[in-house]
Amino acid sequence: MRSILTVAALLLPTTTLAANAFTGEPDADGKYWLFGTGISAAFVPYGASISNLLIKDKSGIERDIVTGFDNATYYKIDTQHPHFGGVPGRYANRIRNSSFEIDGEVFQVLPNENDGLNTLHGGPDGWDWRDFNVVAYTNTSITFSIVDPDGKEGFPGEVVSYITYALGDMTWDAKMVAIATTKKTPIMLSSHTYWNLDGFANNETNLALNHSLHLPYSGQRVAVDSILIPTGEILANPKGSANDFWSKPKQIGTDFGREELVGNCGGNCTGYDNCWLVNRPYAHDWRSADQYVARLKSEWSGIQLDVYSDQEAFQMYSCNFQDGTMALKKTQGFFGEDAKYPRVIPQYGCVVLEVQDYIDGINHPEWGRLGKQVFGPGGDPYVLQVRHKFTVG
Ligand SMILES: *[C@@H]1O[C@H](CO)[C@@H](O)[C@H](O)[C@H]1NC(C)=O
Ligand SMILES: *[C@@H]1O[C@H](CO)[C@@H](O)[C@H](O)[C@H]1NC(C)=O
Ligand SMILES: *[C@@H]1O[C@H](CO)[C@@H](O)[C@H](O)[C@H]1NC(C)=O
Ligand SMILES: *[C@@H]1O[C@H](CO)[C@@H](O)[C@H](O)[C@H]1NC(C)=O
Ligand SMILES: *[C@@H]1O[C@H](CO)[C@@H](O)[C@H](O)[C@H]1NC(C)=O
Ligand SMILES: *[C@@H]1O[C@H](CO)[C@@H](O)[C@H](O)[C@H]1NC(C)=O
Repeated sequence: MRSILTVAALLLPTTTLAANAFTGEPDADGKYWLFGTGISAAFVPYGASISNLLIKDKSGIERDIVTGFDNATYYKIDTQHPHFGGVPGRYANRIRNSSFEIDGEVFQVLPNENDGLNTLHGGPDGWDWRDFNVVAYTNTSITFSIVDPDGKEGFPGEVVSYITYALGDMTWDAKMVAIATTKKTPIMLSSHTYWNLDGFANNETNLALNHSLHLPYSGQRVAVDSILIPTGEILANPKGSANDFWSKPKQIGTDFGREELVGNCGGNCTGYDNCWLVNRPYAHDWRSADQYVARLKSEWSGIQLDVYSDQEAFQMYSCNFQDGTMALKKTQGFFGEDAKYPRVIPQYGCVVLEVQDYIDGINHPEWGRLGKQVFGPGGDPYVLQVRHKFTVG
C-alpha cells in the first residue's frame, strides 16, 4: 500500500500547490500567501519578492508560473542572485559609469557589473538583496516597507518606500510608492518577475520561446552598447524586424535564427534584454480594458497575462543567461523516472517583464525624464502601478 502511494505521488501532478487558507502567519517555508479569486500567490520579505503564483491552466491543473525558491531562507543563501521576483531599487536597471549629476553635483554610486564599469539594480546591496518589513498582511494583500538610508550604495538622501501587492479576480496588482525624505535623489523601481506560463510542465518544450508577446505601444526602443548601457539614441522598430512586437503578437523565439538578433542583448548575446518605450499619444487611463502594455500567452497552458501599467517603458529579458544551474521549485516541472526534462531552468526557459521608466534616464536629460526619475523632500512621491490580469483558454 505504502509503495503504491509513493509511486502515485511521483507520477501524478500535485493537486494542491499552495497553503489553502489564510492564517495570518507565514507558512512553514516562510512564505506569506494571498488568496484571490482563481489565483493565489506567495511573497517573501527578501526583496519584497513574489515567490509563487498559482493559476489553473486550460485543463484545470494548477500551475506555478513564476520562478523563485522553495523557502524564504534560501533567498539569502543563493549566490547567483538572479533578482527572482523582487523590487530592484532604489534605481532599477543600469547606471552608466556608476555616476550621475543632480543640480551640478556629481554622485558616484557603487558599481557591481562589468568589472566595475556600471551599476545594476541599485548596487551590490540594492533593495532586492535586503529584507523588507511586513507592515500589513490580509487575506488578499500584503504591504512591505523599506527605509534606505542616506549614502547607502552612494545614493544621496534617505528614501522610504512602501510596496503593496493585492490579489483580485484573476489579477495581481502592485503599487509602489517611494518618498525622498532628506535630499534630491534618483528613484526608479520595477517588478522583476520571471514568468514561465507553463509552470515548466509543458511536455513539448521547457523553454518560453513559444510564448507569444504583444507590445502594442512599443514602436521604439532605447539603443544600448555592448554592455547594455543606453547610448542616448532612440531607435525605431520597423515592422517585421526582430524587435517588432507592436505590429502583431509574435512568439519570442520567432527571430532567433536571424542575424539581427545576434548582439541584440549585448555583446555575444542572442535574444532580448531590451527597453521598449510605451508611447500612448492620447489621454488614457492605464487601467482601461484592453490597453495592456504587454500581453504574454502560452498556447500550451492557455494562460494569458495582460500587463497594465502607468509606466512609460518596458523591459523584456528572455533569460539569455540562465544556464541550467538554477533548480526548479518543488511546485514546478516534472518528477519521477519518466521526467521529461531536468528539474532546472534552462537558457530561454523564462521571460522577465519589467514595467519601469526610460532606463538610465538620469544620464540623459535630453529625454526629458528627470521629472519622473529625480525626487526630493516636499515634492511628489515616486509612484509605480501595475496590474497583471490573467485569462485562460
Ligand atoms: C480569502 O479570500 C478568498 C478569495 O476572495 C475567499 O475565498 C476566502 O474565503 C477568504 N478567506 C478568509 C479567511 O477570509
Ligand atoms: C529551501 O529551498 C532551497 C531552494 O529552493 C532547497 O534547495 C532547500 O532544500 C529548501 N530547504 C528546505 C529546508 O526546505
Ligand atoms: C565617470 O565618473 C567619474 C566620477 O564621477 C568621472 O570623473 C568621469 O568623468 C566619468 N567618466 C565618464 C566617461 O563619464
Ligand atoms: C504531451 O502531452 C499531451 C497530453 O497528454 C499528449 O497528447 C502529447 O502527445 C504529449 N507530447 C509529447 C511530445 O510527449
Ligand atoms: C515553437 O517555437 C519554435 C521556434 O521558434 C518553432 O519552430 C515552432 O514552430 C513553435 N511551435 C509552436 C507549436 O508554435
Ligand atoms: C565576445 O566574445 C569574444 C570571444 O570570446 C571576446 O573576445 C569579446 O570580448 C566578447 N565581447 C563582448 C562585448 O563581450
